[in-house]
Amino acid sequence: MKDLAWGIAATGGIARTVGAVIAAEPGMRVAAVGSRELARAQALASALDAESAYGSYAELCADPAVDAVYVATPHAQHLEVAEAAIAAGKAVLCEKPLAASVADAERMVLLAREAGVFLMEAMWMRFNPLIRRVAADPRFGEIRSVHASFGFALPYDPLHRLWAPELGGGALLDLGVYPFGLAQLLLGMPSRVCVTGSLAPSGVDAEAAGVLVYPGGRRALVEVSLLGGFPNSAYVVGTGMRADIQAPFWAPERVVFSGPSMEPEAYELDPADNGYAGELREVRAALAEGRTESEVMPLDESLAMMGLLADAQQSLT
Ligand SMILES: NC(=O)c1ccc[n+]([C@@H]2O[C@H](COP(=O)([O-])OP(=O)(O)OC[C@H]3O[C@@H](n4cnc5c(N)ncnc54)[C@H](OP(=O)(O)O)[C@@H]3O)[C@@H](O)[C@H]2O)c1
Repeated sequence: MKDLAWGIAATGGIARTVGAVIAAEPGMRVAAVGSRELARAQALASALDAESAYGSYAELCADPAVDAVYVATPHAQHLEVAEAAIAAGKAVLCEKPLAASVADAERMVLLAREAGVFLMEAMWMRFNPLIRRVAADPRFGEIRSVHASFGFALPYDPLHRLWAPELGGGALLDLGVYPFGLAQLLLGMPSRVCVTGSLAPSGVDAEAAGVLVYPGGRRALVEVSLLGGFPNSAYVVGTGMRADIQAPFWAPERVVFSGPSMEPEAYELDPADNGYAGELREVRAALAEGRTESEVMPLDESLAMMGLLADAQQSLT
């Protein structure tokens, strides 16, 4: 099988991080980089040994040498880039959250399904081997409770994408995909959600805490914040055992299982696992097998998460 040729759309923080992982991963390479500014595309292309650099995302998507486009723009620009990539028949790995609104996410999924093109949200947490171990272990029995937080103090700057409404800012969309997403992975979609929090001067949510309620009183307590540091760890309590997931829980390096009838069991991440390779390998495997969606991060679950986060945002305004 030939190397999977990636096109990277954008040159910001995560584009550089994931670009370096692609460049180091067997069976794939960075073929091209696209940016709103040609010089930035050229600089990243040169750093990643990519053949081509473009001063627009449209040119990147049109490059016949590119098999898959990695969308690493702010959320509000995800749809525009994904739309161009899908129209050109490229597979798309789109950063989390899938889009800045439910409508954008639905359109993206519709376009990919109509075109028969692979699309997946780059939800790397779901590919972490320790998270997968937690999700698969039957010894939890019935999971009664999931607790997870993600918060850090980010000085207020209306130009920063996390504070800017036009860039899809807010704690819920950017950070919420992880704690709400852990609850979704382990408990499914809640029957009721109760959210409280506060808004920033720009109107985006600065912090939010939610109780996600499931049938029979099972629940998840989730918290996100741009106003202060949280433990950023998680725990999962089942009738059979508990898991303590070390911070950062969305990319843990250590998980401890414990319970009344067992010695504590600690699992460590393989130090060679950089966290992002799993989602990249999933794209490669899907294309090799002719799949247009991932079973690890299904599009319907990305859409459900967008709806959940939108409802949570709504209840703060
Ligand atoms: N999976 C993860 O671990 C992870 C971590 C961080 C972020 N993310 C996700 O990745 C996406 C990008 O986050 P980031 O932290 O990399 O952001 P960032 O550092 O601000 O970079 C975003 C890049 O997007 C491009 N862009 C396109 N339109 C833009 C606009 N109107 N304003 C600003 N930049 C624009 C820019 O590249 P050009 O100027 O070159 O076009 C910019 O460098 C977000 O959706 C975020 O949720 C994921």
